[in-house]
Amino acid sequence: MSGALAAWTVPAQVRTLTGDDHAAFAALGARSTLSSLQSDDTRRSLLSRGLVFGAFVEGTLVGCSAMMFDTPRSYCLRDETVAILPVPNAYLCSTFVLPSARGCGVGTALYKRRLEVLREIERPIVGVEILGTGTPFAVDEHARPGLRFHLAAGFSIGGYSAEPDRGPMLIRKVGVLCRR
Ligand SMILES: CC(C)(COP(=O)(O)OP(=O)(O)OC[C@H]1O[C@@H](n2cnc3c(N)ncnc32)[C@H](O)[C@@H]1OP(=O)(O)O)[C@@H](O)C(=O)NCCC(=O)NCCS
Repeated sequence: MSGALAAWTVPAQVRTLTGDDHAAFAALGARSTLSSLQSDDTRRSLLSRGLVFGAFVEGTLVGCSAMMFDTPRSYCLRDETVAILPVPNAYLCSTFVLPSARGCGVGTALYKRRLEVLREIERPIVGVEILGTGTPFAVDEHARPGLRFHLAAGFSIGGYSAEPDRGPMLIRKVGVLCRR
């Protein structure tokens, strides 16, 4: 793969990752800034329990995104009480694109693929956590594209993460129009 990825015009190929992709997924996870992807246990769990999508450029895995189903995910409401994402649900997580491949539409392709799959595997509630900075609702600067994409796709801020990053928990309920 060339080093000048930002100049490349070939669209990334997005497909579901399988157990055969574990080595490439581990290599991407090792370069990720997301704790969920850095953990071997979490990567294996995502591959086996959920759906992980990978974006490939010239055969190299440059990005990934995941979703899980019916996970009773905890998050915090504005008044700091703890809530649970009601089951059945879909929980979207772990989107990461290598810095050298950013700004070329890879992240958007991954985000769109998850929403396409959700049209087939319907769930009444969909949640996505946006990486934060440790202060409730504050968004990590590298996660802003994810915030913008999901707000435009009909998600709204339902609370903030119970994880140490405290980023926003975005929620979309059935019947909310998807504009992306
Ligand atoms: C968030 C992330 C996945 C986006 O991936 P990407 O491949 O750069 O995304 P895209 O190229 O599809 O760009 C998405 C949008 O953000 C914009 N964008 C991309 N990089 C940007 C930057 N550095 N500054 C401002 N806008 C940017 C793009 O112009 C595009 O806007 P548009 O939809 O209006 O055209 C990537 O930045 C990343 O891996 N961040 C670190 C991990 C992370 O925070 N993940 C999200 C956890 S919630």
